[in-house]
Amino acid sequence: MHDGYGREIDYLRVSVTDRCNLRCRYCMPKEGLPLVSHGDVLTYDEILRVVSIMSDLGVTKIKLTGGEPLVRKNLPTLAKELKNVPGIKSVTLTTNGTLLSKYMKELSVSGIDAVNVSLDTMNAEVYSYITITGGGSLDDVLKGIRELRKYPDIDAKINCVPMGIKGQNPIELLEFAKKDFIHVRFIEMMPVGMGKNFSCFGEDHLKKKIEERYGRLIPSMKNPGNGPCRYYEPQGFLGMVGFISAVSHRFCDGCNRLRLTSQGYLKTCLQYEEWIDLKGPLREGASDEEIRDMIVRELKKKPKGHRFGERDINREEGMTMSQIGG
Ligand code: 5AD
Ligand code: SF4
Repeated sequence: MHDGYGREIDYLRVSVTDRCNLRCRYCMPKEGLPLVSHGDVLTYDEILRVVSIMSDLGVTKIKLTGGEPLVRKNLPTLAKELKNVPGIKSVTLTTNGTLLSKYMKELSVSGIDAVNVSLDTMNAEVYSYITITGGGSLDDVLKGIRELRKYPDIDAKINCVPMGIKGQNPIELLEFAKKDFIHVRFIEMMPVGMGKNFSCFGEDHLKKKIEERYGRLIPSMKNPGNGPCRYYEPQGFLGMVGFISAVSHRFCDGCNRLRLTSQGYLKTCLQYEEWIDLKGPLREGASDEEIRDMIVRELKKKPKGHRFGERDINREEGMTMSQIGG
């Protein structure tokens, strides 16, 4: 499946819920957001139907995301069913890790291929400042990561948004990558939703800091992920270090993805306030053909790229990351 610019699209991010048990400052307001009512969230059967139509069109990789996907009941069951959809080669999960130790075993049985844990700091105080938890759950995340590492066939990554706040210390996270087969990726803050109000360390600055400490960063030929992350293999590290820099190193030319929000909107680009509703047609009896045509038509309209930094107010996305699925 190709978009209007000839980009091959083989990756779908599926947000299974807009709910989250954390309130990361750059993602959600402290008081939370108006929630999508349960009846307006796609059922697992509806998600499976969209995925099988997408798979016929050429999608092979699915990422389950949220909000926090593990707050939705029976997520491992969905993962398992997605793995069984003909043509789907990989099903992966992005999670804040707080519930991971509880579900890791079931996830492994479901055949999940990779788990990305969002973890911005190893400092408990800074963790509760960023996630507004009131403290405590950094230990849960670390427990989740330990549990994840009990399954060496499941690819493990840590995602960090390096906000550059005092005490966050990205180097502490790298100590993981150094001693364990876990990749640490630094994600540049994107001006989407609450992210517009925050700054962030850029890739070049971080790289310099990392090289000062660990020596030259050698680009890796491997890519254990689905997308635009550029990986390096510092000497003596078991895992890799990666950078996802949507703003400073724009990667839209190679964009391979679509997004399905929890309420059934299909989005072709993170930035623009544009989507089509698939839930309505799904519930009103549209045929697979009709849904398929809607997807293909929307895909042809996928923008060439984001315009973060240029103010294009009319078309800028008003949904937050937790609503879109990051
Ligand atoms: N820019 C970049 N990453 C973000 N995330 C949430 N909001 C933003 C933003 N504005 C990240 C979280 C998590 C992933 C799901 O998305 O930190 O790692
Ligand atoms: Fe929840 Fe992830 Fe948003 Fe944090 S970034 S509030 S963990 S959805």
